[in-house]
Amino acid sequence: MNKTFKRTLITSALPYANGPVHIGHLAGVYVPADIYARYLRLKGEEVLFVGGSDEHGVPVTIRAKKEGCTPQDVVDRYHGIIKQSFADFGISFDVYSRTTSKTHHQFAADFFRKLYDEGKFVEQVSEQYYDEEEHQFLTDRNIRGECPRCHAQDAYGDQCEKCGATLSPEELINPYNADTGHPLVKKQTKHWYLPLDQYQPWLEQWILNEHKEWRPNVYGQCKSWLDGGLKPRAVTRDLAWGIPVPVEGAEGKVLYVWFDAPIGYISNTKELCDAQPERWGTWQKWWQDPESRLIHFIGKDNIVFHCIVFPSMLKAHGQYNLPDNVPSNEFLNLEGNKISTSKNYAVWLNEYLEELPNRQDELRYVLTANAPETKDNDFTWDDFQARCNNELVAVYGNFVNRALQLTQKYYEGRVPECGTLSETDRQTLDEFSDVKARLESLLDQFKFRDAQKEAMNLARIGNKYIADEEPWKVIKTDPERVKTIIYISLQLTANLAIAFEPFLPFSSARLRQMLSMDEFAWGQLGRTDLLPAGKQLAKPSLLFSKIEDDTIAFQKQKLADTIKANEAANAKAEPQKPYVTFDDFQRLDLRVGTILECERVPKMKKLLKFLIDDGLERRTIVSGIAQYYEPEQLKGRQVVFIANLPPREFKNGLVSQGMILSAENYDGSLAVTTVEHEVKAGSMVC
Ligand code: 2FM
Ligand code: ZN
Repeated sequence: MNKTFKRTLITSALPYANGPVHIGHLAGVYVPADIYARYLRLKGEEVLFVGGSDEHGVPVTIRAKKEGCTPQDVVDRYHGIIKQSFADFGISFDVYSRTTSKTHHQFAADFFRKLYDEGKFVEQVSEQYYDEEEHQFLTDRNIRGECPRCHAQDAYGDQCEKCGATLSPEELINPYNADTGHPLVKKQTKHWYLPLDQYQPWLEQWILNEHKEWRPNVYGQCKSWLDGGLKPRAVTRDLAWGIPVPVEGAEGKVLYVWFDAPIGYISNTKELCDAQPERWGTWQKWWQDPESRLIHFIGKDNIVFHCIVFPSMLKAHGQYNLPDNVPSNEFLNLEGNKISTSKNYAVWLNEYLEELPNRQDELRYVLTANAPETKDNDFTWDDFQARCNNELVAVYGNFVNRALQLTQKYYEGRVPECGTLSETDRQTLDEFSDVKARLESLLDQFKFRDAQKEAMNLARIGNKYIADEEPWKVIKTDPERVKTIIYISLQLTANLAIAFEPFLPFSSARLRQMLSMDEFAWGQLGRTDLLPAGKQLAKPSLLFSKIEDDTIAFQKQKLADTIKANEAANAKAEPQKPYVTFDDFQRLDLRVGTILECERVPKMKKLLKFLIDDGLERRTIVSGIAQYYEPEQLKGRQVVFIANLPPREFKNGLVSQGMILSAENYDGSLAVTTVEHEVKAGSMVC
């Protein structure tokens, strides 16, 4: 929609304060949000950039349990580390607060209470498992018991890992608390649900018709949620850690973390506005004035909460603006593997800065150059080195350094006079003239990767100009001409300081200081008189330096060591499941099938549908391996499958008659089990 706004409120997902932040966080959310905030500020627009830590939820309690401390200890520690990392990388939040703050607890509780008082929730009583000794209701994953199918003693409340059955806690025989071993009883519990089904028609109109401009990954995910039909969602939980439900008779219950966290965007804004009202005005101005625009920067796992659940909460409340756009990125992988906090497989921002001090812009540059804007992308240290050395050092840094050093050498650091322009000068300046419009068009569409490319392209133009004009040679024959070449080079340099500011704020600030540029605004971009003749520049120093091979080797080794340590831990691990009898094993009918056909399942991203020759007939098997194979790759292959599982029906009516066995790699990726040489379809596996 083409609406004009007076100001922009930018939010970036609140990271869980249960661990430090890594490059995946930076690439997915915080660098793009920061580029956008800096760009708007440079344009002189009114902007407020909100961040903060998400400090409630089960992940925090799990970490606390692991570390033998309280959830508050955990969030105190990580909130500090995360906040520092963001500051170190120049993420220019106007406020970075936390969801354990008093302001937030009060605000979130009031928000809930208003909806409650207005009857916007549906109350539902259900029977759930309860540990009488601990006085605690349990989440599905914390319940264990005997599997009703294979009689394993330690099936989870949502799945039996032995036979693979999908279960609900009610199906378990003799359920017990996975942590304490205490037997569980059923107890009634009341929860409050946001009836998303009632908001479905409105959401369809608002997203599918009015926001077709959203990124295809965001729009597509919303569409598939809406096509699947929305159901009421519980917004409260039986937990001890969180914001108490502000209703009588709700003791022991807290707001669901995904209810309170996005309200954190509002309460953090309030905290800032209350502290500096003369600078920021009221929080209502940012959240409720229709002339304020709201943009949420998030990762793809947060799409449903920001596009469907939170807008429904805001709509239910009735006084809030809705997001104008939700530019969500896909995921960043690391050297071909999934980044994993629990497996310590990541480049942690705090460690990066210890090992590569003062190289914030290098990481920002590479993460934007390779941003997962439209699909998952991979970060590799070789690519990092190549981009730093071949682009930042060899192009941008080289050009700037030549222009500044020659100014020192020939003119004692003063900007020379510009003489008559040659044809090449004119062409070069022409190429620069529409840079502002090109950058704006890309940035306005949240295409940060292309926008940064455009800025680097400017540096390439400058680098080529100075290399072609060779002022260091011309000085011997035509010193007057050199003045013009250096004048133009310096103007281009000043333009680069502006164009790169949103992307590379640290080097831009240094460059501005070297150019003694006091005045500095986006509107100046494209101008060729930014540095007047006679202006004294400061002493230059190198903008970027090379990343050496040993730095890269060290980082690669560190990741390789982590993989090795994880593999060793896996190999040493106790058997993951209890022993089975030979009879148990014999009850499985494992066979080899030949894949006749294989195709993707519409709207079910993870699934592949197989038609298998099982020796007797053809059967359909559905398997969740679509992320790891192209259907054509598997056609004709022989795989091992379980032939005597009861048929399983999927949401869309598809029925799977068995299960193809796959090996799960340590990084969670799957590989189908095949046979070493061809056998007859239907052969038993024993
Ligand atoms: O996925 C996450 O890391 C969540 N903590 C994001 C919350 S975003 C918002 F709702 F606060
Ligand atoms: Zn089982």
